[in-house]
Amino acid sequence: MAIFPYSAGELYQWVVGKENFVLLDVRNKKDFGRFKVEGPHPIEMLNVSYFDFMEIEDECIEQLPDKGTRIRIVCAKEGSAKFVAEILEKHGFADVGYLTGGIKSWGNLLVPKLLNTDVDYQLYQFIRPGKGSCSYGLAYNKELILFDPSRNIDFYLNFAAQKGLTISKTVETHLQADYISGSRMIAEKSGAVFYANAEDFGGAKIDYEQLKDGDQIGFGPGGPAVQVLFSPGHTPGSTMFVIDRRYVITGDIIFIKSIGRPDLGGKVDEWSSVLFKTIGNIKTMDETITVLPGHYIDWDEANAELNFARPLSEIKKINESIYAIEQEEEFVDFIKSNMRDQPPEYATIRLVNANLEVVDDEKAEVLDLGKNECAASAYAAAQQQQ
Ligand SMILES: [Fe+2]
Repeated sequence: MAIFPYSAGELYQWVVGKENFVLLDVRNKKDFGRFKVEGPHPIEMLNVSYFDFMEIEDECIEQLPDKGTRIRIVCAKEGSAKFVAEILEKHGFADVGYLTGGIKSWGNLLVPKLLNTDVDYQLYQFIRPGKGSCSYGLAYNKELILFDPSRNIDFYLNFAAQKGLTISKTVETHLQADYISGSRMIAEKSGAVFYANAEDFGGAKIDYEQLKDGDQIGFGPGGPAVQVLFSPGHTPGSTMFVIDRRYVITGDIIFIKSIGRPDLGGKVDEWSSVLFKTIGNIKTMDETITVLPGHYIDWDEANAELNFARPLSEIKKINESIYAIEQEEEFVDFIKSNMRDQPPEYATIRLVNANLEVVDDEKAEVLDLGKNECAASAYAAAQQQQ
């Protein structure tokens, strides 16, 4: 069998299907350590660099499993994976694929999941396995509202076109720091109205419709309600959206495991107090509401259908010690004791998302790649060890 290209989507399906293969990542150790393929099930993985294949080919071949094994190669862009695939083919490996578009295509992959089937609207979760993030799409009567789309805007535009939907609105839950948002570009390309909270976007160079607390921004008559719920804390303008009283898109305020970091803006005391009040409000919400987070830390947060969607009652149980905090001071202490540095590129991403800094495509790719750091995950790690 000749070597062949495969897509990030196929790779995701193989991981989900627990198929037998070895993922051979030929990037250097540093890049591999910083960001690698992760999925809902363990992946057998090897890291042998492309440079080693060029210099000490035979030693590299010795590190590989037997020649009948299915090998799937990943590199930065595509070329080196193809080069290594050709070497493996020459050595008699029978089943070798290389990832088209390199690790970037994995980083940008979006997996659409339909969350509801029992009503006359469709709510989609778009999982981004390379980032650990989720954006959303709500469709009703040929109209699609997007929430927190990522910069892979072709995906959203194609998704809408394939389903015969028009993107009418693109909504941000907050000014994102960990990935480049696609809302501005989607609004430009599709004519959709960009909705955002002025507390976060006040200084932005973007034409947007200001969200107002308590407003409805949904569809015409008969469509599911979409209620705006200001929920400051992760950022001053963090906003949640309650859909049909059944679902709440929480952005980075609460996650399935852990809560949003209030320290990304450099005002930890002030923002922690505000977050404490918001968490207090969330505690009083109907516990049957399904929480739809903007991020996840690990795939163990997914449900049996591999979606990131849980009733609030379960979220409260999973994060019992956070939700049990009654005193503001104790909460601020908890936040401070779990603080860690934020990646240096976050400041630039915020500026890009406010259109106050323009970067070319290549720089945008570099800024955007890598896992999110939006949760107070030191806490989550500690919680897991208990
Ligand atoms: Fe965030």
